[in-house]
This record gives sequence, C-alpha cells and structure tokens, in this order.
Amino acid sequence: MYAPGADALKKSIDRMLTEANTRLTVGKTVEASRSYEKAWQFAEQLMELIDDPEERRALQVRANEFRQRSRALHLTNRMDMGRIKPTENHEQDDKVYTDEEADAQEQQILLLIDDRPRSIDWNSIGGLDPLKEELKFHYGLAMAKLPEGVDIEGWQNIMFYGPPGTGKTLLACAIANRLNATFFNVKSSQIVSKWVGESGKLISMLYRVARKLTNDGRPSIVFIDEFDALCKSRGQEGQLYHQQMLAAILSEIDGFASKGRRNLVMTIGATNRPWDLDAAVLSRFERRILIALPDSAARAEIFRIHLEAKGIPIDARTLNYKRLAKATERLTGREIARLCKEVTSRMVAEMNPEIPSLVDKGLAAIQAHTIKLRPLRRADFEPVLDRLVPDTSLETEAHYADWGRAVSDGRVPSE
Ligand SMILES: Nc1ncnc2c1ncn2[C@@H]1O[C@H](COP(=O)(O)OP(=O)(O)OP(=O)(O)O)[C@@H](O)[C@H]1O
Ligand SMILES: [Mg+2]
Repeated sequence: MYAPGADALKKSIDRMLTEANTRLTVGKTVEASRSYEKAWQFAEQLMELIDDPEERRALQVRANEFRQRSRALHLTNRMDMGRIKPTENHEQDDKVYTDEEADAQEQQILLLIDDRPRSIDWNSIGGLDPLKEELKFHYGLAMAKLPEGVDIEGWQNIMFYGPPGTGKTLLACAIANRLNATFFNVKSSQIVSKWVGESGKLISMLYRVARKLTNDGRPSIVFIDEFDALCKSRGQEGQLYHQQMLAAILSEIDGFASKGRRNLVMTIGATNRPWDLDAAVLSRFERRILIALPDSAARAEIFRIHLEAKGIPIDARTLNYKRLAKATERLTGREIARLCKEVTSRMVAEMNPEIPSLVDKGLAAIQAHTIKLRPLRRADFEPVLDRLVPDTSLETEAHYADWGRAVSDGRVPSE
C-alpha cells in the first residue's frame, strides 16, 4: 500500500530515533536534537506518500512530536549553557527546574516560541519606511556595545496600536527576524483560556525562560497581542485571571537590567483598542506607535508585495500599482492581501479548469499538472474594486489619531 520509497523513509526515521536515543544517553543534546529534526523531515516526506487519511494523521502527530523534541532539546541546551556559565544573573533565574511540574510548564512555554519571523523581513512590509528606520536604530542601540561607563538605553518595551490588519504583527516579526531573536508569540485571550488560574505564574515563567535563552547573546522578544483584553477587565469581577496576567507582565516589564549587562528581553505589545489601556500600563511602554492605514504609496507597495513579489505576472499595459492604490483608498494591508488573493485565484481557476477532473483521476494525475498562469489585467480587478467597502470606518480612523494626540499631550483618556 506504500509508494516506493516509503519503506526507505520509515527505516530512516527508525534510524534517526535510535541515533537520538544513543546521543541522549551520552548527554549529547545538540546532536540528539539534530537527529530528531531529521526524523521530523523524513516523516514529513513520508506523509506525502501516504494516501490513507487516518494513517497520515497518525504520522502527523508523530512528526510534530519529533519536531517538538528537537526544538525542546535545542532550547534546553541553550539554557544549559546559561546554567554552566552563570553571569551575574537575577536571583530568581537561578532556580533550576528539576521537578516534573516545572518541566511541564516549561514545555508549555516553549510551545509559544514561533518560527514565523524567519520568513518575514522588512521588505515583506509595504510602507512605514521612517518607522522601519527608527525601529532599526533603536533596537540596534539596544544591542550595540557601550563604551565603558556609558549607560544609554535602546527601546525595551514598545506598543503598536492601530486598526486591524495594518502590519503590527509583521513588524514585530521583522524585528525578531533581523535580531535573530527568539520570538514568543503570546495571545492574551488564548493564554487565559488555556492556562486557567495559572496565567500569572506562567507569564513569570515565560520571562524567566526568555531571559535564560538570552544567555548565548541572542535577544528574546515577547510579543503580546490583544493587550487591551488584559486591561478592559480592570476592576471588574470575574476577570481575575486577566488581572493576574497583566500584573505579572507589568512587573516583568518594569524589570531590572543587571549592572553592566544588557537586558536582552524585549516586550512588544499590540492592540486595536489603545483607549482601553490605562495610564499605569501605558507608562511601562517607552513608545506607543500608531500603525495607521497605509497611504497611497504604501498601498502600491503592498500590491507589489502580494502580486509580483509572489511571482504573479502583471500586464503592465493595463494595470499599474499606482492606479490600484488610487482605487483602494482606506484599505488595510490585510484587505489588499485578500483582494490580491481573490483576483489571483479567479485567474488561476480560469486558466486551469481541468483541475477538478484531475483530482478525480487521483493524486498522481494532479501532481503531474503544472499550474498555468496569465498576466493579471485591469479588468480582473474591476469587479472586486467596484464593491469595496473598507473595514475601517472614518470614525474609527479618527479615534486612533485623537487618542494618539491626547496621549502625546499628556492627557490619557479613559473611556
Ligand atoms: N504593510 C503591509 N505590507 C504587506 N502586507 C501587509 C501589510 N499590512 C498587512 N499586510 C497583510 O495583512 C496580513 C495581516 O497583517 P498583520 O498580521 O501584521 O496585521 P495586524 O496589524 O497585526 O492586525 P491585527 O491587529 O488584526 O492583529 C499580513 O499577513 C499581510 O499579508
Ligand atoms: Mg496582529
């Protein structure tokens, strides 16, 4: 029932697992991590060759497990390096997690580490050029060597705010990518529902792990999305867990840079509802940065990123980015990405009408088919452009700007 090659892959997986075990017994964690990674890669290849959905699912579970183990070993090793050579560390960092409970919690935290930033760079983000430069400067400052006796700080904690879909998450990813940082992706609502009653404790643990992972010189970025969800509930009963989590985050952010050593743990918050944040929270963030709707030049660039940069051909005689940008006033990056996807998939459907019948013929037939494309024309966009309704209302847009002005004038409105 297996395609040729499947047996060889299965044997390779077994070999990698045995190798990992042998390496683990002699304490070679880095090498064992690599064996698990290979086992994962083989399992992914094997999955392509399996038709039975049940079997594929089971293999997927195993593959994920190999990957998780590889990652955990890799990180454990980085943390161990810190343990062997303790710099003048914070006292609470010296806790060594030996008991099972702490190990389980640590595993949960490692699951928050997100690899996504690796695929996102500054040029995946359209517009925002001055901000990109500013971010590079201040994060560079936070990382660069200081002359003896000089104490200048770069940005440690910043908060992005603005309408949904404008590139806040992308920016955080790009920063993490360029700094080669470990990226902890924390969605407030998920943490609270997943770790009921423990979210405060786990946040402290998260920062501890984040600090530990900086022992090899790589920074850690803790990205806290939906920050407003933690604040709205202040003073309300029944939202105790949010409050515990918020308190833990604020006390970690307040943090302490130990003397002569840079604090390489940085927090980036993001919110669509900055007016729900109160003064106590805001004062913890050195910078609040509005990520507004893209202007016309930025929209043109976003179109380019989601079409040409993805290899989708354009008919330059009828279509240009400037005109597209003009016709898409007040659209967010996310809406533009969606629009490009819709237009592209219509073109692909038109050019490849045989796909459904090939699927009926079986996997081999569809795998042998190469997708045909044609350049996109102005007419492809027209039906979609005609019925555009921007997600962000004028009032909402004005609300962000008003709030920003009020904060910079020293008046933090609390609604
Ligand atoms: N400036 C941009 N350049 C290119 N693509 C963008 C841009 N802004 C948004 N996008 C597209 O929209 C998607 C969503 O962007 P992102 O996740 O950064 O939004 P966000 O501001 O974090 O939104 P939310 O507030 O809803 O979390 C991206 O994956 C990308 O495809
Ligand atoms: Mg986001």
